[in-house]
Amino acid sequence: MKNIPVIMIIFGGSGDLAHRKLYPSLFNLYEQGLIHDNFAVIGTARRPWSHEYLREQVSDAIHETHDQVDENEVKAFASHFYYQSHDVTNVEHYVTLKKLAQELDDRYSAQGNCLFYMAMAPRFFGTIATHINDQHLTGSGFNRIVVEKPFGHDLVSAEQLNKEITASFDENDIFRIDHYLGKEMIQNIMPMRFTNPLIKNIWSGEYIKNIQITLAERLGVEARGGYYDTSGALRDMVQNHIFQIITLLAMPEPKDLSSDSVHKAKQELLKSLIIPTPEEVKKNFVRGQYLGSDTTFAYKKEPNVDPDSTTETYVAGKTKFTSGPIAGVPIYFRTGKEFKEKKTRIDIVLKHINNPYGQAHSNNITIEVDPESKIYITINGKKIDEPGIRSEDLTYAFSKEEMAKVPDGYERLLHDVFVNDSTNFTHWSELKRYWEFIDAVEDAWQKENEAGNPEIAQYLPYRMGPKEADNIFESPTEHWIYE
Ligand code: BG6
Repeated sequence: MKNIPVIMIIFGGSGDLAHRKLYPSLFNLYEQGLIHDNFAVIGTARRPWSHEYLREQVSDAIHETHDQVDENEVKAFASHFYYQSHDVTNVEHYVTLKKLAQELDDRYSAQGNCLFYMAMAPRFFGTIATHINDQHLTGSGFNRIVVEKPFGHDLVSAEQLNKEITASFDENDIFRIDHYLGKEMIQNIMPMRFTNPLIKNIWSGEYIKNIQITLAERLGVEARGGYYDTSGALRDMVQNHIFQIITLLAMPEPKDLSSDSVHKAKQELLKSLIIPTPEEVKKNFVRGQYLGSDTTFAYKKEPNVDPDSTTETYVAGKTKFTSGPIAGVPIYFRTGKEFKEKKTRIDIVLKHINNPYGQAHSNNITIEVDPESKIYITINGKKIDEPGIRSEDLTYAFSKEEMAKVPDGYERLLHDVFVNDSTNFTHWSELKRYWEFIDAVEDAWQKENEAGNPEIAQYLPYRMGPKEADNIFESPTEHWIYE
C-alpha cells in the first residue's frame, strides 16, 4: 500500500472519539502501511498533557480494541504522536500549532500535506475553521479537513459553518463524515441494487409498495443529555444517517463508480425531495419521549435535560421523491432511544400480486445492518403436506470469519480521506437539502410548541416506541414489517 506523507492535527485529541475510534483505526492503517514513516499526529485539547502522556493514551486505545498486538509496533506507532495544549479561541495557540506542524513536516518529510480533523464539540468547529484560515495553518501540499457531525444545527448555521470552512478548503477537500457510510451493509446497498437483475428490475413504484428504515437503539441518552437536549432524534439521526440511507436507496444508477458520478446521481435525486408542509408534518410525523421504569430515568429526568423538555428521543416520519426509480414510493423511517433492542434495518416491501393461490405472504427484501449484517428475501412457496403457501427466507450472509475481517467504519472512512476518495462523504449540496427537510419539520414542531399543544407521544422503555407511529401509513394495508 502506498505510504502517504501527512501531518494530521486532531482537534479533540483527548476526547472519546479519538480514543475509541481514531487512534485504533489509524493504527490499523499504519499496520497496513498506508501511513508509516512519513506521518505525525498532533493531538490538541485544552488539558495540559505531555507528548508522552498522549502516547500512553494511544497505546491504551490500541490495547483496548485489539486482542493481540506486537508491542514494538505499538511503540513505534505511538512515537509519531505529539500533544499540543490548545484553547481553540486563543489565536496565539494557532501560531504555536503551526510551528509544531512545520517542525514535524520537516522531521517526517511530510511534503507539506496537512489533514485537519474536527473531533471536538461542534460549537467550536466554526472558530477552528476561522483560525485555520486567518493564521494560515494550511500547508504547501494537500490540505484536507474532516468534519464530524452535526454539521450545523439548522440550514442557517450549516451555511455559516460551510462558509467558514470553505474560506480555507475547496469542496473536494472537505470530508463531512457520516460513520453510517462506512458500514458494510450500507456500502452494500449500491451493489445489491445495481448488480442483481432480480432486484434492479423491480426497483420501481410498479413493484415496491413502500420502504421502511428503522434505526433502533437500546441505550438512552446516557451522559450526553446536554448535547442531546439541543438536538433530538431528528437532527441526531435523521438529518444524516437516515437521509444517507434514503438517498442510496432512491438515487438513480450512477454512470460509473467515481465519486463525482455517485454524488451527481445523489444530487439529481435530492432536487426532487418533497419538503413537507406543516399539515403534512402533523399527519406524517410522530415524535416521542421515553418514560422511566424502576431502574431507568424518564428522558425528562436524565442529567442535563430540561425537565420541561420537548426534545424528541423518538421520531417516525415519511418522505417521497418526485423523480428517480422509486418516485412516489413512500419511504417510512423511525429511530429512537430505549427501544426493545439495537437494530438497524431496511425493509423493502413489495406489492402483492394476484395469484391463483389466493392470499400469499408479503414478499420483502430486508437489509440488516446492525447488529447482524445480512440481506434476505422472504419468498413464498408451497406447504409440504397441506394446501397453502408458506414463506421462507433466502439469505445472503457473511460467515463469522468474514465479519471479523470487516474494518470498522472509521477505519474505512479514514482510509478514504488519506487516498482522497470522497465517495462515502456528504457533499455540501446534499447536506443543504437534508437541512431544508429537517428545518421544515422542526419549524412545524416549534410552532406547535409555541401554541402550547405539542403532540409528544410518551413511550415505555425497551419496547417498540410509541404506538402512534403505526398511524403514519398511507393505506390500511401497510404496517411496520419489523415489530
Ligand atoms: C450517532 C448519534 O451519530 O450515532 C448517536 O449521535 C447514536 O446518538 C449513534 O447513538 C448510533 O450509531 P450506531 O453506529 O451505533 O448505530
